[in-house]
Amino acid sequence: MCGIIGYTGNKEAKDILLQALTLLEYRGYDSAGIAVSDEESKKTQIIKCAGRVHDLEEKCKEESNHSVCGIGHTRWATHGRGNDPNAHPHPGGSVTLVHNGIIENFKELIQEFHLKGSLKSETDSEVAAAIINTLYQENGKDIKKAINEAISKLKGTFALVILVEEEPDTIYSVRNVSPIVATLCDEGAMLASDVTALCQFTNRYFVVPEYHILELHPDCLHLWNLFGVEKEPEYLVADWELNSAEKNGYPFYMEKEIMEQPKAIEATIAPRIKRGLPDFSVDKVPDSVFTKCDRICVVACGTAMHAGLVFQSLVKSVLHMHIDVELASEFMYSDPVIDKKTLLIAVSQSGETIDTLEAVKYARKQGAKSLAIINVKGSSIARESDYVLYTNAGPEIAVASTKAYTTQLAMFYLILARMAYLKKIYKPKETKAFISELSKVPEAMEAVLKKRHEIHVAAREVLEAKDLFMIGRGLDHSLLLEGSLKLKEVSYIHSEAYASGELKHGPIALITDRTPVVAVATQEKILHKEISNIREVRSRGAKVLIFVKEQFAKDLEKEFSVIKLPNARDEMMVFSASVALQLFAYYVSSDKGFDVDKPRNLAKVVTVE
Ligand code: F6R
Repeated sequence: MCGIIGYTGNKEAKDILLQALTLLEYRGYDSAGIAVSDEESKKTQIIKCAGRVHDLEEKCKEESNHSVCGIGHTRWATHGRGNDPNAHPHPGGSVTLVHNGIIENFKELIQEFHLKGSLKSETDSEVAAAIINTLYQENGKDIKKAINEAISKLKGTFALVILVEEEPDTIYSVRNVSPIVATLCDEGAMLASDVTALCQFTNRYFVVPEYHILELHPDCLHLWNLFGVEKEPEYLVADWELNSAEKNGYPFYMEKEIMEQPKAIEATIAPRIKRGLPDFSVDKVPDSVFTKCDRICVVACGTAMHAGLVFQSLVKSVLHMHIDVELASEFMYSDPVIDKKTLLIAVSQSGETIDTLEAVKYARKQGAKSLAIINVKGSSIARESDYVLYTNAGPEIAVASTKAYTTQLAMFYLILARMAYLKKIYKPKETKAFISELSKVPEAMEAVLKKRHEIHVAAREVLEAKDLFMIGRGLDHSLLLEGSLKLKEVSYIHSEAYASGELKHGPIALITDRTPVVAVATQEKILHKEISNIREVRSRGAKVLIFVKEQFAKDLEKEFSVIKLPNARDEMMVFSASVALQLFAYYVSSDKGFDVDKPRNLAKVVTVE
């Protein structure tokens, strides 16, 4: 969703802002804009338009003025369409601002501040600009006082980044829930909605605490609490290389990120294996977190929720423990049963998904312990949770999640092994055997990546499909839910994943001549049943492609199109099958000529409910 950048320093601001907005494109948006301060005239110039950052770049070429301070924004429409007037930044007298989040009481504020008739856009954000300006003028041009007063009136979530004409080299910011990170580096002081925009300059940054005012100058920054007391920023270091948000020769980030998975899994598991056993001491997660709960509740959205479903299958079969996996967007409204004996596991790549964040806050109120599996360091869910396990996948830029998902899975496998070990369900030797198999996952993934041309050829068979079905049982079904989501979001083919045994209870009515069906068959104990279900759809005309564990392929390849996945212990097959399905979705999308990394209507970071 909306992206924010702010820069003041010694370089041309427009260039830095546009470059950063390009890096933030992945969040999803429908208009973009910048505002730059002019030291001499003390005027703020706003350039904005509906469309892509590229369109904004073209518009900026028409403006030749020079500036070293400015703010920028990519907008994902919530209040009002994605058109030019609604694009940020928004002016309000001397004040110009960009905003992420939703100001819920903006209509009441229009009344209170008599703004009716004076607003140029349909946005709640322009209301915030107008209010801050009014209070700025009323408070003898004391911007911090004005911001302080304004935020006491705002209901909802916001990250506001503000320029005032009288202080052309300074940027102010304040936030509630919606994130802002900031840094000071050789080029100047910067802030952004996420660290991806900063990581071309530095990997040191801090998260601006809620309800604190940040003040950026070219060579210093100050952080104030609302009582005017200066606070020391708590810097974090991202373990991402400075070029890790670049495409490195790949046509799309999605392909690059699929290819990075063996390394990403290694980075997730290696620090958490000690003497062959899973170990979370590096994360300071005590064993009591796992031993003192009698129930687990996983909350997450989309792909992250699908990782939870794989974990659920394993927890049931290995730990025989009660586990629920909840869609975070439904969780809060479903009267969830959470108590002190529940371990709430929140899963999120971005760490900013608002529904998941709210679920963690709710769990805390109920006295439950929360453990977050997160990719982005210092993100809101990470800070809100009692314990955090970082997946170390590096920045994930493509909207369609790939390496975040498989590293979330890897983390769940480590948790499962630790719990089985602590509960003495696995003996040390069995735990080590499980971990040793997990350590072979990167190699198995490499083997699938080497087969990508074979998968590409198979993908060409479904380019014209309107509907496609994915079928499998047990763990295969859980991973197919994710495979199906991947295909639908990047290729726009209507795809559904079904538990194979469920077909006869309705969905098989949709199978007609040449309907594409993708099956996954990697689980020995249900293999024969799965093969029967595959034959049932084939008998009704379906065109079937099977991703199958190599050792089961012998008979199937005589009858069906198959792609063989390297042999591994059944539980571990999820990883190589997931990579194969990601590649399948990727090739369908790229062959159809779509912008794989930016599927329509989608946003990478979902900060509204
Ligand atoms: C799909 C996808 C989404 C996210 C979901 C949650 O490819 O990426 O379904 O998984 O929006 O996002 P995070 O993990 O950031 O909470």
